Amino acid sequence: MNVLILGSGGREHAFAWKIAQSKKLENLFIAPGNAGTALCGTNVNISATDFDAVKTLVWEKGIDMVLVGPEDPLVKGIHDYFLQDEVLKDIPVIGPKKDGAQLEGSKDFSKQFMIKHGVPTAAYQSFTKANVNEGKKFLETLNPPFVLKASGLAAGKGVLIINDINEAKKELENMLLDAKFGEASETVVIEEFLHGIELSVFVLTDGKSYKILPAAKDYKRIGEGDTGLNTGGMGAVSPVPFADEAFIKKVEEKVVKPTIAGLRKENIDYRGFIFIGLMNDNGEPSVIEYNCRMGDPETEVVIPRIKSDFLDLLEGVATQTLDKKNFEVVNETATTVVIVSGGYPEDYDKNKVVTGIENNSDSHIFHSGTKQDGDKVLTAGGRVFAVTSFGNSIQDAVSKSFKTAEKITFDKKYYRKDIGKDLMNWKK
Ligand code: AMP
Ligand code: GLY
Repeated sequence: MNVLILGSGGREHAFAWKIAQSKKLENLFIAPGNAGTALCGTNVNISATDFDAVKTLVWEKGIDMVLVGPEDPLVKGIHDYFLQDEVLKDIPVIGPKKDGAQLEGSKDFSKQFMIKHGVPTAAYQSFTKANVNEGKKFLETLNPPFVLKASGLAAGKGVLIINDINEAKKELENMLLDAKFGEASETVVIEEFLHGIELSVFVLTDGKSYKILPAAKDYKRIGEGDTGLNTGGMGAVSPVPFADEAFIKKVEEKVVKPTIAGLRKENIDYRGFIFIGLMNDNGEPSVIEYNCRMGDPETEVVIPRIKSDFLDLLEGVATQTLDKKNFEVVNETATTVVIVSGGYPEDYDKNKVVTGIENNSDSHIFHSGTKQDGDKVLTAGGRVFAVTSFGNSIQDAVSKSFKTAEKITFDKKYYRKDIGKDLMNWKK
């Protein structure tokens, strides 16, 4: 099979690395990719949201399957674009159509979906500028902290958690009346604050059956001890000690099954990944959010733990035969440590020369934001690498990731040295 992966981050490098190992693969293309994906296949410098350029590429290279990494092309309807095109309509796209991508693209939609289909989630109401005063009244009925969410896509920045009621009312106005998050905050979801500990569960579905992929916990804040600004993710661990078999079974019964059944009831033919952000409150799962894609850096621990042929699984999604596919997971623990360019998630420099990424046997170095420049690798993003290692325990795995991260050099590199620490001595 000739496969095209869309995207350019660590998630896409992990996909490319895994698919390159498949017996079913002939040629692999990544658009636009990075210096890491270039080690697994051929990079093509076009944007994942330039659908016409993607069409030309698919046609020229005889692509048999397209795997979409980020949410943007999905929410913008790349799958629908393929289905509506005479040339492309029979080429499978892994990732939902616009209707399914609303699970991520509209928090208002996803909350309505959860309530309608009995998926446990925080109580909520949605507001627009027409009823901003009712929104303020609703805030008064809740206990702090107050959770305000821009309904649309806001590059991971659209959620505010505020302790003070007056500040919460002011921010509601900023979002609805002053377009704090642009169009994304034309509708705002206000919801009850959930207590507990967070984790992510990933589901691969062909619209009929599903496989629950390994769960992961990520580390969202820039600073050690979960302090400072939110980022795309600074590290991840899989499996998650507090998500034991009994908890995952509960997630399957209370969340996964009603979600898949709900999609079917809504006539949404969903083929791709569902990333379920969950709160575990004393063993009870509650959904914080859905995403219509895999997580980054979670993919960099989830994919290495999949033993089976990943392309074979994706073929099962495309042909709705996922239930017939072999799916095995490695029991060992995987950790990933994200190395960023100093300043991230605010302003940071690019084009720094990287050294120390060769000859390393302790870890898989997934590239998140790099580019090849002649024989040099340069930084090209805020998150630059995700260093994944295996071990018999979190401690064992993460110490290898740290050892490798230490060896990689570029000006102003930074990584958190406490990834997994909170989980090392986890007791129920
Ligand atoms: P989201 O973009 O919906 O994932 O929200 C970003 C982060 O805000 C989540 O990962 C949680 O840490 C936090 N969060 C969102 N909603 C809630 C909630 N209802 N209660 C507590 N924390 C929340
Ligand atoms: N690591 C969180 C995300 O991919 O959204």
